[in-house]
Amino acid sequence: MVKTYDPYYSYSVEFENVSFSYGDSNNVLDNVSFKIRKGEKVAIVGESSSGKSTIVKLILGFYKPVKGCIKIMGLDIDKWDLKSLRNIISVANQDVYLFPESVKENIKYGNYNADDERIINSAKKVLAYDFVIRFPNGLNTRVGERGVFLSGGQRQKLSIARAILKNSPILLLDEPTSSLDSESESLVLQALNNLIRDKTALIIAHRLSTVKDADNIMVIEEGNIVEEGTHQELLLRNGKYKHLWKKSFQFSKVE
Ligand SMILES: Nc1ncnc2c1ncn2[C@@H]1O[C@H](COP(=O)(O)OP(=O)(O)O)[C@@H](O)[C@H]1O
Ligand SMILES: [Mg+2]
Repeated sequence: MVKTYDPYYSYSVEFENVSFSYGDSNNVLDNVSFKIRKGEKVAIVGESSSGKSTIVKLILGFYKPVKGCIKIMGLDIDKWDLKSLRNIISVANQDVYLFPESVKENIKYGNYNADDERIINSAKKVLAYDFVIRFPNGLNTRVGERGVFLSGGQRQKLSIARAILKNSPILLLDEPTSSLDSESESLVLQALNNLIRDKTALIIAHRLSTVKDADNIMVIEEGNIVEEGTHQELLLRNGKYKHLWKKSFQFSKVE
């Protein structure tokens, strides 16, 4: 019999002493433990190369931990079949993967049963519809190999539209708005905030102002979680988070 998850699970994602390396001897994640309750919004922040995206890749089952254990909805990740696992998780990230198909097919990849109205609705929510209808073939315009006919911001909007259409219980947002200007970023973030309201979300953001309302913020440094708490708690602690917060504030002032 296929093992399935406990419908009364408390935690959507659990990492227990997870260590990981991409093959060489250096550990990219070192004894990482955390739990994300069902419905919680949790953020991971840290300098680049600290291991944030690696956590996302492990949750999606692209790699296995070298040590430790990962549970999704209470079930060990090894017991999930990858197709079901990726069905219950939506991802929007910094490196968007688009297929050399039409705009519509690319959004629909989130949910093959969706009709045109729902596809258009999710495109509208992420401010993608305005540019799509200006294309010669509208929604049926082909995006080229890996989406080369689109700008980085347009690709990112389509990937968020895809996640919105998919409507999965768990969302992994890995710098989903990094290619957007700050004006469209705040509008797209509103759409994302509506989407994640009743869901579990793990959010990685380059602008810390976008994660300050998270239920819990984990600060990662060279593969270790070094601080954890709410925005207010972490500011009071006067540590790494405070440093990152001040840095991102300086950064946004010169933008
Ligand atoms: N596919 C890969 N193969 C080898 N090393 C990788 C790979 N992906 C990431 N890394 C390395 O792992 C470390 C953590 O990367 P990553 O998780 O992408 O960091 P972040 O998302 O915090 O910027 C970095 O040193 C990076 O160079
Ligand atoms: Mg990353």
